[in-house]
Amino acid sequence: MSMQLGIIGAGTIGEVHARAAHAVGQTVVAVADLELAKAQRLAAAYPGARATNTISDLLDDAAIDAVVIAVPNKWHRPLAVDALRAGKDVLLEKPMALTAAECSEVNRVVADTGRILQIGMVYRFSAAAQAAKSVIDQGDLGEIYHAKAHMIRRRGVPGLGGWFTNKGLSGGGPLIDVGVHMIDLASWLMGFPLADRVSGKVYSYFGRRMADYVYEQMWAGPPQLSGLCDVEDSAHALIRFAGGATLDLQVSWAINMPQANGVGPGFVGIFGDRGGLTFELGGDHVNLAAERHGRNTDTQFQLPDTEPFAEQAKAFGDCVANRHQPSATGAQGQLVLSIIDAIYASSTADQEVKVEET
Ligand SMILES: NC(=O)c1ccc[n+]([C@@H]2O[C@H](COP(=O)([O-])OP(=O)(O)OC[C@H]3O[C@@H](n4cnc5c(N)ncnc54)[C@H](O)[C@@H]3O)[C@@H](O)[C@H]2O)c1
Repeated sequence: MSMQLGIIGAGTIGEVHARAAHAVGQTVVAVADLELAKAQRLAAAYPGARATNTISDLLDDAAIDAVVIAVPNKWHRPLAVDALRAGKDVLLEKPMALTAAECSEVNRVVADTGRILQIGMVYRFSAAAQAAKSVIDQGDLGEIYHAKAHMIRRRGVPGLGGWFTNKGLSGGGPLIDVGVHMIDLASWLMGFPLADRVSGKVYSYFGRRMADYVYEQMWAGPPQLSGLCDVEDSAHALIRFAGGATLDLQVSWAINMPQANGVGPGFVGIFGDRGGLTFELGGDHVNLAAERHGRNTDTQFQLPDTEPFAEQAKAFGDCVANRHQPSATGAQGQLVLSIIDAIYASSTADQEVKVEET
């Protein structure tokens, strides 16, 4: 029988998960959302799926094997804990939780229950990231000593005044939103070295003058000017790993960078002593700079056209069926949040800080 899936959170990305799961042969059997109408609208797209606004009702359903949690960040920790304790395997949207300490609590429950937890690091499933990973795994870059992970939006604040810009609900701005993807991606490609120290700075200029915010498009819009924006709009950091390698991170929802309109592509560069590679997320190729027979060579890998959310759903289904933990583990989710915690702490302290082990 196909995997019987429950979706918790019937918003933008809950809908994407339901479609991806259906596309790879999983069965969406129930949808839960605090707003019943949203749950009903999404459930209606999947014959036989039921809708509820009571999360425990879905978690108590023994027919459900696994759940996708796609709700605002503040609810990731409590809902993941409840779902794991209810005996469900979990695909948990990013960020894993608001802080590394919260992630650690979830990881303890994974260890107690033996359930599967996959963090929604969907960018790893992009064709570019997969190709880059296989080049790196073949050793073509030699010793990796530096990486760049940039995702710059000139104007891309999501849902200004909604939950994304409310620190109590989101945990922060672009650093915890898209920064989590970029830190994860670079760390994964570098082999997940342990972070040692961070020097970071976050800026909040655009949220201070919400009514003047000039934009062309808005994810999760339109702006709610009666709402709150108390999160950063860009973050800049140098992360030093224990083995000496570094990561240059830059992410923004809003910054006055020419030619970065709308939702900019992510840029990743991984540099080693034998070769280096760069790619744009969503791009159709990976660039490899290397040395062959005493000459500098450039190679461009063309990429297949894949759908990252479907690839992610397939990988999760495989872990559930074969009872193995995924590539994007809760332990890695926690390492990424410990870097994010340190960037916020460094920005507040105005100096380099140690990355705390939780
Ligand atoms: N992987 C990605 O690329 C990606 C992209 C967008 C969003 N996300 C993540 O997905 C999550 C949801 O984002 P979104 O854009 O879909 O938000 P959204 O606002 O569109 O949807 C959230 C839904 O959750 C419901 N909800 C709120 N609190 C709830 C609770 N306690 N229990 C059940 N339902 C609740 C809301 O009613 C809403 O329908 C966030 O954590 C976000 O970071 C990931």
